[in-house]
Amino acid sequence: MDLELKDQVAVITGGSVGIGLAVARGLAAEGVHLVLCARNGERVEQEAQDIQSEFGVETLGVQADVTKAEDIDNLVARIEEVFGGADILINNAGTGSNEKIMDASDEKWQYYWDLHVMAGVRLSRGLVPFMRQRGGGVIINNASICAKQPLDYEPIYNVTKAAQMMFSKNLSDEVIGDNIRVNCINPGLIQTPDWVKTAKQLTEGTDQTWEQHLQAVAEKYAPIKRFASAEELAHFFVFLCSPRASYCVGSTYYVDGGWLRVV
Ligand SMILES: NC(=O)c1ccc[n+]([C@@H]2O[C@H](COP(=O)([O-])OP(=O)(O)OC[C@H]3O[C@@H](n4cnc5c(N)ncnc54)[C@H](OP(=O)(O)O)[C@@H]3O)[C@@H](O)[C@H]2O)c1
Repeated sequence: MDLELKDQVAVITGGSVGIGLAVARGLAAEGVHLVLCARNGERVEQEAQDIQSEFGVETLGVQADVTKAEDIDNLVARIEEVFGGADILINNAGTGSNEKIMDASDEKWQYYWDLHVMAGVRLSRGLVPFMRQRGGGVIINNASICAKQPLDYEPIYNVTKAAQMMFSKNLSDEVIGDNIRVNCINPGLIQTPDWVKTAKQLTEGTDQTWEQHLQAVAEKYAPIKRFASAEELAHFFVFLCSPRASYCVGSTYYVDGGWLRVV
């Protein structure tokens, strides 16, 4: 299937590792030019360069902390300078949390609000005008199954991801008239280096290997009884970016191996 994505320009926050990097590589394989951002500038620039060499698309790696409004202003300025705008925005940067509501500080709540919600709001405000000039665009918000079905150890993550999902729906209504399709993806268990790192920490000095730990997590939560690879999930992102998904508007799609317990 020709996904008709060649020579589009995509911006991916948190594009240097894990899901964001897999989506970047999936889009690059379709001939999409890329802007990747992350806080670790060296890593994101290296990944952008590697993708350029491997796939022959134009790439730009930008150091940016998307919780900071000034970093987003700078990112949008760089995108305009190098590519004259963008066709696709993937709000992917994010991370899990670990707290009790009774103990967590206001600062922690604010950080996750900025990371999971305001980053998408600010980047959409910055990039939608270019999408309008180009005749349309695509915005995908990477939330989580936890937006709908909470995990008890990370209430701030659950709450801010639920807000990200609702932001996605509201933005969709606001911009579909400009031919900009906004959707949300709620992944389940995706095996990224971060999960592996945590599993290694939790199993250090125990009888369990990190692989056994991850398998136990998968068996506890996912009827499919395994994690997905980031590449498996990325296929769905790439499809949703494509004009082939032209009637997919304002929805939330679960890619979770059957984990969601409601229909
Ligand atoms: N993995 C899963 O099982 C899973 C499941 C459901 C949803 N998700 C969601 O999917 C998204 C990606 O997750 P992942 O597992 O791929 O995470 P990851 O491997 O930890 O990668 C996160 C990416 O975001 C960047 N990032 C983090 N904070 C940032 C900030 N303040 N500003 C700019 N960039 C930032 C990181 O780079 P730097 O550290 O250099 O900034 C990195 O590129 C997240 O929103 C997560 O909530 C993941």
